[in-house]
Amino acid sequence: MRNKILAANWKMNLTASEAHDWLVEFNEIDSDKSNIEFRLYAPNIFLSDLAKSQSMHIGAQNVHPSDSGAFTGEVSILQLVSVGTQSVLIGHSERRSYFHESDAFLKEKVDACVKHKLPFIFCCGESLEIREKDEHLSFISAQLSAAILHLNTSDLSLLTIAYEPIWAIGTGQTADTDQINEVHAFIRKVLRESFSEDGVNVSILYGGSVNASNAKSIFACPDVDGGLIGGASLNASNFLELASSF
Ligand code: 13P
Repeated sequence: MRNKILAANWKMNLTASEAHDWLVEFNEIDSDKSNIEFRLYAPNIFLSDLAKSQSMHIGAQNVHPSDSGAFTGEVSILQLVSVGTQSVLIGHSERRSYFHESDAFLKEKVDACVKHKLPFIFCCGESLEIREKDEHLSFISAQLSAAILHLNTSDLSLLTIAYEPIWAIGTGQTADTDQINEVHAFIRKVLRESFSEDGVNVSILYGGSVNASNAKSIFACPDVDGGLIGGASLNASNFLELASSF
C-alpha cells in the first residue's frame, strides 16, 4: 500500500516568524488532513522549533553522511534526529548542480540514512538538454542505479522517490501528464525489476511547478503518489489547497 504524500520544500525561504505563522495557519485551517501524509522540509535552523509543535512531519532538506567530525557548516543525521527531524531530502537537483553533489556522495547519504533508519526522499530528474536528446530514461536509470538500487528490500520502507525534471522546477513549465506517466511508470518498472513486488510499494512523488491549477491532472496519473512542492508551498493555505486535488 503506497502512502499519498504532499511535501513542502521551502528551500531557502521564510524567516523564523514566517515559518512559525505558516505552521499555525496550516494547523488552523479546518480541512480533513487524515488521508494524506503532509510533510514539511524546512531550513535547518527552524527544524527544532517546528518539530516541537508535533503537529506535522518535519524533514530536513539536506544532510551530511558522517555521524560527526570536522565538516564546517554541515549537519549530521544524529543532530537532525536529536531535534525531532523525521526524514530528509537527498539528491535534490539544486544540491547536485549548485553544490556539485555527486552520485557517489549521494549514495553515502543514502547509506547513512539506512544505518540510522531515517526515512528519506531520493530526488531524481533530467535537465532540458538531456530530455531534448531523448536520454531522460537512461539518465534517471543511472541516477537510481548509482544510489538506490543496492538497497536491501528490508530498507525500502525508508525510501520515497521524487521525480523532478530540472526544466520544470521553478519555471512555471510543468511536465505534461504523458511525460510524467512515462517517467513514473519507468521508475516503478525499475523498482519492480530490482526489488520484486516490494519495490512496487515505494511512493513516487512528482515535483516541478505544481500548483492549484495543474495538481488535479498530475495527481490523477496512476503512478504519481503525491507531490514535492516548492513555490506553491510557501503559503500554508495554497499548499493545503493542493490536497483537495487528490
Ligand atoms: P517548484 O514547485 O517551485 O517548481 O519547486 C519544485 C521543487 O524543486 C521541490 O523540491
